[in-house]
Amino acid sequence: MAAAGLMEIYLQMAYDAVAVGPYDLAAGVEFLKNGRFKNFPWVSANLMDKNHNLLFPAAKIIERGALKIGILGLTGQIAGTSPETIVADWRKVLPEHLERLTEECRLVIVLSSLSGEDNAELTRQFPQVHVLIAADRQQGNIVPRFEYSTLVTQTMSQGKYLGVLNLDWIAGSSWGKDQEQEPGAASGKEPSHLRSNFTGNFIPLSKSLPDDRQIAMRIEEIKQQIYTHNQRSTASGEQKNATASPAFSGLSGSDRCQECHPLQTSFWKSTRHAGAYATLQRQQQNFNLDCLPCHITTSAAEQAGTSSMESLLTLPAALQSVGCEACHGPGLTHADSPDKVKPQGKVKEKTCTACHTKERDPAFNYLEKILKVSCPAG
Ligand code: HEC
Ligand code: HEC
Ligand code: HEC
Ligand code: HEC
Repeated sequence: MAAAGLMEIYLQMAYDAVAVGPYDLAAGVEFLKNGRFKNFPWVSANLMDKNHNLLFPAAKIIERGALKIGILGLTGQIAGTSPETIVADWRKVLPEHLERLTEECRLVIVLSSLSGEDNAELTRQFPQVHVLIAADRQQGNIVPRFEYSTLVTQTMSQGKYLGVLNLDWIAGSSWGKDQEQEPGAASGKEPSHLRSNFTGNFIPLSKSLPDDRQIAMRIEEIKQQIYTHNQRSTASGEQKNATASPAFSGLSGSDRCQECHPLQTSFWKSTRHAGAYATLQRQQQNFNLDCLPCHITTSAAEQAGTSSMESLLTLPAALQSVGCEACHGPGLTHADSPDKVKPQGKVKEKTCTACHTKERDPAFNYLEKILKVSCPAG
């Protein structure tokens, strides 16, 4: 459903080559290979069927002027793929493909969704890769930099920035930037006009930039589809109370705390944390797993971990907000026997910045904001 919509948007954007990433396989390989998307320029040198045949071309060669550019794809490890698909070890498959590419092309680009560590190893072992464009979810934007002799960069996931990389590539020359040129030293290096250069920048896709109308409409449709789908699939699993849900053991939910801490509870209800889930509901994003972890009681997200994030879709109502336990920690045992178990009173900065991240809340200032959320004594 949603995958078809996304693919239509990919088609409209007229890519030259796209590496198959771990998340692209959610709708199955057949979906990516057939039908309307048969000619889409997917590349992956390590994604194979169970007989070890490549599922997509390893690389694509495009020509710009007289320059032949080889673009090779590498797919990162996928959790829980079907036994029909194998993500082969890139170390084994890469040498052979690179050999063929470097024979024909004077510029070799690798599109990689491998981990940061694997990418570092790749640049160390394969200097014949001139440019590596990464897609590592952990790292956000990577300002173009050299790792050994490879230029490495990436744009943050989820379309928050448009990464622009201009290459001024002189085949056979070396990269010019960042390579220390000692003053007056004539060295054996080429004169600077024979060096390849680059400039890179990231354009934030802020709300002030007008959307492409057709694509914006399509995205609205997709969101609506996801919303209806998740709503339907959770409607049957009616809201349970917090303690009954084994996925969230140790949490009582904010309602329980109210019984003994009415003053703090009414203060908390006046803060925006109490309405954090309602904010998502207003935008029909309360079934979006990219949003939920920060707009609910954090400990629940921590417990669900990345493996069972879906359980957040059936979160008990009492955990649907940035509730007491997001700051004071799991409180079920305390609520059961307050004399024996004391919850966390003080709240550390890193508890806040788990949600008030640099990306989401760049202006966050702990000392200033803590005053706004500290529950009153009494
Ligand atoms: C059955 C009553 C009861 C319930 C339910 C209860 N508490 Fe308490 N809570 C207490 C008592 C009693 C104290 C101790 C007060 C004292 O010693 O000053 C306390 C103390 C605290 C403190 C202060 C700890 C400190 O070190 O200063 C926090 C924070 C707290 N509770 C949070 C919670 C949260 C969060 C919940 C819900 C998960 C909760 N409480 C549920 C009775 C309760
Ligand atoms: C579980 C994630 C989470 C945690 C933990 C968290 N917040 Fe928030 N906070 C949010 C969200 C989400 C909002 C916006 C809610 C809305 O408006 O829907 C918010 C809003 C706020 C606001 C109001 C908006 C603003 O910037 O003035 C303040 C103040 C705030 N948080 C301070 C804190 C402080 C201080 C801490 C740590 C003691 C903290 N938060 C911990 C998620 C969190
Ligand atoms: C990493 C944690 C995090 C994630 C993930 C997250 N948010 Fe938030 N969100 C926050 C925090 C913190 C605030 C409060 C800071 C602020 O208002 O700028 C907030 C505030 C908001 C607000 C209120 C902004 C305003 O000024 O009124 C909206 C709306 C919102 N988030 C929607 C979303 C949606 C939709 C998603 C998923 C696409 C999402 N958030 C994902 C942490 C997060
Ligand atoms: C955004 C974080 C945050 C949330 C959410 C939050 N608190 Fe607090 N709470 C604090 C901070 C900060 C303090 C002050 C700690 C200190 O003394 O420095 C505090 C203090 C308390 C205290 C001790 C007050 C005293 O006697 O000094 C209690 C009890 C308490 N909170 C209960 C609750 C309950 C119940 C809820 C939910 C209804 C809740 N808190 C939600 C941050 C939070």
